[in-house]
Amino acid sequence: MQVLVTGGAGYIGSHTVVELLQAGHSVVVVDNLCNGSEVALQRIEKITGQSVRFIRADIRDRQAMDGVFSRHDIETVIHFAGLKAVGESVSRPLDYYENNFYGTLVLCQAMEAAGVRRLVFSSSATVYGEEAPVPYVETMPRGTTSNPYGTSKAMVEKLLEDLVSANARWSVVLLRYFNPIGAHPSGWLGECPQGIPNNLMPFIAQVAVGRRERLSIFGDDYPTADGTCERDYLHVVDLALGHLKALPAVLEPGVSIYNLGTGQGVSVLAMVNSFMRVTGVDVPYLITSRRAGDLPAFWADAGKARRKLGWTAERGLDDMLMDTWRWQCKNPYGYR
Ligand code: NAD
Ligand code: WQD
Repeated sequence: MQVLVTGGAGYIGSHTVVELLQAGHSVVVVDNLCNGSEVALQRIEKITGQSVRFIRADIRDRQAMDGVFSRHDIETVIHFAGLKAVGESVSRPLDYYENNFYGTLVLCQAMEAAGVRRLVFSSSATVYGEEAPVPYVETMPRGTTSNPYGTSKAMVEKLLEDLVSANARWSVVLLRYFNPIGAHPSGWLGECPQGIPNNLMPFIAQVAVGRRERLSIFGDDYPTADGTCERDYLHVVDLALGHLKALPAVLEPGVSIYNLGTGQGVSVLAMVNSFMRVTGVDVPYLITSRRAGDLPAFWADAGKARRKLGWTAERGLDDMLMDTWRWQCKNPYGYR
């Protein structure tokens, strides 16, 4: 299948491009490189031995997107491109609604004009909102999101549902990711945050490699077993493989929604202790106050993806941590 991957030079996109190429699909990447790297594309070529067709373009640029669809015979779009930093979305809401919501709107307009109506969208567990009981199941309604990032994801889901209702020739798969971590086992691809990492895993890795003095654990007074927050961490390669498993689903008309997670919550303290055990490297930490907006614990009901797509997250926590560490050691400053 010929697949257009928007955001293919980013963290999850680059891992997905590897799996698509290795499975024999043909790939075109569109990325504006605002948070991705051309080095990641070179590394994909190194891993797969195949060349990557790359167009540096912004999904908000209708003319550029029309050009992509007219020059390439695209059958399906996997849409990763967007901004993803929750805290930044609070201070820059316009950028988030523009990139994530308006960007998807323009992409869909270009797709409609080109007669390409199959889309796999990178959604997030955050759309379940603040009040949802765990585990999160796809049949639950979207909840109240607490930041513009989450709201932009919920808005895109609704936009895509409305599009499918209006035109039965569209088919859309909404993939709700939980907490992707880890890196390609080669050590050549991984997460490359700009500045101080917001997320736990890259922060732990940067402390371990000596780039930061210590980790702050945001609160140990949550109603969980050890008092720290629990999340459903999954290996980015498993997540990438979830997109391949979702490709047949996007051949059927309508909207389908799948959680991509392991179905298990792991606490922050367990993450830090497991990292130290697996790598043998010390990670100094300090318990600090809670981070605004953090939920105590959530994880996926991963049953639907298993039953309908035949997908389960197969890589365990030790693999996620070891692969992160290999990537961090080989690339202490990421792709820079
Ligand atoms: P990332 O920032 O590494 O990758 C996103 C890519 O999109 C980058 O390469 C960036 O340059 C590109 N991009 C951004 N805006 C663009 C635009 N307007 N036009 C063209 N390219 C643009 O992020 P990621 O972690 O790989 O996330 C991929 C997708 O998955 C995002 O939509 C994100 O919201 C979603 N998601 C991520 C997580 C996570 O924890 N990483 C969890 C749930 C959902
Ligand atoms: C995990 C846990 C923190 C950093 C975010 C988005 C979510 C999704 C994934 C896109 C929390 C704790 C963290 C640190 C810490 N992204 N922590 N010290 O918040 O579950 O999810 O990324 O869709 O929408 O909200 O992930 O990695 O930031 O935090 O103690 O320095 O680690 O409090 O409990 P989160 P995270």
